[in-house]
Amino acid sequence: MPTRRPYVGGNWKMNTDRTSGSRLARAVIDALARESAADVAIFPPFPYLITVGSILRDRPSAIRLGAQDCWTKPDGAFTGEVSAAMLRDCEVKVVLAGHSERRHVIGEPDELVGQKAQAILDGGLECILCIGETLKEREAGRTDEVNRRQLRAGLADVSREHLHRLTIAYEPVWAIGTGKTATPGDAQDAQAKVRGELAALYDSEAAESIRIMYGGSVKASNAAELFAQPDIDGGLIGGASLQADDFVAIVRAAASTPRR
Ligand code: 13P
Repeated sequence: MPTRRPYVGGNWKMNTDRTSGSRLARAVIDALARESAADVAIFPPFPYLITVGSILRDRPSAIRLGAQDCWTKPDGAFTGEVSAAMLRDCEVKVVLAGHSERRHVIGEPDELVGQKAQAILDGGLECILCIGETLKEREAGRTDEVNRRQLRAGLADVSREHLHRLTIAYEPVWAIGTGKTATPGDAQDAQAKVRGELAALYDSEAAESIRIMYGGSVKASNAAELFAQPDIDGGLIGGASLQADDFVAIVRAAASTPRR
């Protein structure tokens, strides 16, 4: 049975405002205050990081403050971007790289995602590297090839000593925000192959210790069957992370579901 500690992230994307985001953060923190069987991070939009960070600081909580993106350079003329150092300064602990909306809506290429992952890890932060295939790629039988390509590019310059701060999120693009969840078996298959690829890139000890989340229409009602899979170490949650009760139920499912 895997001993990896479950990890659940709430990616708020470009949702909430200062009032509703503060309310959501307080509700999640209060509900999970005395629970410690899973790691939890929340990812508010950039403008609310300080506000949510101060709420986290004021309450006893192990919940990590997360950011949804970051630029590759430490400072300079990059209008509109933020650096890993700035995020650290705002008490951010974990940053997403290569979320599917950044890849497919905004157009970030694999190489840029790799540079971001490296900047995040070099900056002393935790990185959640997101990978996953589109519907067209899945239908063409290319799921594993796409995951392998995104993983190789994403980790191109990531050295072994940074791996303890790395998590992978497998998020099939067709399952994100669509209500269509990958079956637990399909997600497990893809994630077992991702773990195999991590072993090829590093070694089996590293591959066994890196957590791989599943993301894409995870809900309180389907979380437990996903989290029961041996290579699914938690979830990256979009829509359902905007309702405190739903998100808390998903975290509890991750914390309490025995692995097969
Ligand atoms: P949904 O849970 O809304 O499908 O979003 C998943 C996601 O993109 C999390 O990063």
